[in-house]
Amino acid sequence: MNGVIETTTQDNAQDYAIVVDHLVTYFGERRILDDVTVRVRRGEVLVVLGGSGCGKTTFLRHLIGLLQPYSGQIYIKGQEITRLTETQMNEIRKKMGMLFQGAALFNSMTLGDNVALPLREHTKLAESTIKIMSRIKLGLVGLTGFDEFKPAELSGGMKKRAGLARALAMDPEILFFDEPSAGLDPIIAAEIDELILKLKRAFKMTMVVVTHELASAFLIADSILMLDKGKVIAFGTPDDIRASTHPRVVQFLNRAADEEAQDDQKYLQLITGNKNV
Ligand SMILES: Nc1ncnc2c1ncn2[C@@H]1O[C@H](COP(=O)(O)OP(=O)(O)OP(=O)(O)O)[C@@H](O)[C@H]1O
Ligand SMILES: [Mg+2]
Repeated sequence: MNGVIETTTQDNAQDYAIVVDHLVTYFGERRILDDVTVRVRRGEVLVVLGGSGCGKTTFLRHLIGLLQPYSGQIYIKGQEITRLTETQMNEIRKKMGMLFQGAALFNSMTLGDNVALPLREHTKLAESTIKIMSRIKLGLVGLTGFDEFKPAELSGGMKKRAGLARALAMDPEILFFDEPSAGLDPIIAAEIDELILKLKRAFKMTMVVVTHELASAFLIADSILMLDKGKVIAFGTPDDIRASTHPRVVQFLNRAADEEAQDDQKYLQLITGNKNV
């Protein structure tokens, strides 16, 4: 399924967690997303790759209904979301979890309260139940016993995991991640990848992950969407992407591999003090 996929209809939209059809967005006069068509099957991980400013975050914001397209359709679990009222959209958002780039935790609240927030807002569960549920979610991301900690007392990786616990609070069917491992060291970034794979295996969650990390993309993806200046330059399985002969795809994969090799080289020089490694 390399390249741009065929137009879909609402009938087969039911088979997918997410269907995006010919999505076009403008900011002012600028066409930011240009005819983006993509599908994500239930329980699969879609990774969105592309250079800075190519429209990845804009694409995510459309999927969670924060932006209205200029044209095109978006189906979430078979329901077209671009024509919904805010109340209807809020119902759908309860099935979605989002991990924002900076984790977006409330600094004045404990982790327990941060995770409990969506449950307090959207459910009528008893306070004792909410406490237990938020502890379970913190446990799921490896933060057992941290309920009383404030975000400032945590490392970057722990904050990301706490953000993930909050995104999981309402047991979402679809999870969205914007650069989950940006700014983390490689070992902590790998832990986030492990968590994503764990959620996929254990709960068959559908996930959309925006990332710059190529190694991570190929590890976690069932399918990869590559954007360039708002256009789809590749959409397919990791093997399809590796086999792509599209010049921009080849360039992106090579450049990213070069940058990684250079980082390794710099790191080795730093720890050995040897410029010839
Ligand atoms: N609210 C906005 N108003 C006007 N232009 C915007 C707005 N949001 C994004 N843009 C522009 O749209 C383009 C795509 O932005 P977007 O944030 O989606 O890129 P991105 O692929 O997520 O980049 P990065 O990898 O740096 O996060 C950029 O040129 C950006 O300047
Ligand atoms: Mg972005």
